[in-house]
Amino acid sequence: MLRPVLQYPDPTLAKISEPVAEINDDIRALAQDLLDTLTTVGGVGIAAPQIGVLKRVVVIDVSQEKNDPDLPQDFRVFVNPVVTVLDPKGHEENEGCLSVPDLRAKVKRPRRVALDALDLDGKPVHIEGEGYYGACMQHETDHLDGKLFIDYLSYLKRSLYDKKIRKGRR
Ligand code: NI
Repeated sequence: MLRPVLQYPDPTLAKISEPVAEINDDIRALAQDLLDTLTTVGGVGIAAPQIGVLKRVVVIDVSQEKNDPDLPQDFRVFVNPVVTVLDPKGHEENEGCLSVPDLRAKVKRPRRVALDALDLDGKPVHIEGEGYYGACMQHETDHLDGKLFIDYLSYLKRSLYDKKIRKGRR
């Protein structure tokens, strides 16, 4: 089911999501909603808090991962994802977010990371990525800690954006 995507500065986006204790029908339905919403609105990833559910579930486009013949589709669900930095060297990507309207900006993050999570069958999954793909893994997992890519902007850039958002809401 397509769900509305919360927009900054919705306070839910700044909250910390709870770990998933059990992968049950609720979690499977949540994952399906995330997939439906992402494929409808477009984008490379989405996290549960973006549709108002404070659970640690994200969906990421893994179409760059060519070595998995079992992939049913390009989007994969990750439950309780944990990011580990494999190469801390800074790397900049131009990021945007379904919850942050009208802004793309360069964000510097560690170049290469691993993501460990559970799939919807409760099996452990491990992926690694760098560049744009690695940034995406970090961006989506950040959502579960109430963090948006605009939190990495300089004070000046962030103030300008906040001003623009406030203006737009009047
Ligand atoms: Ni985002």
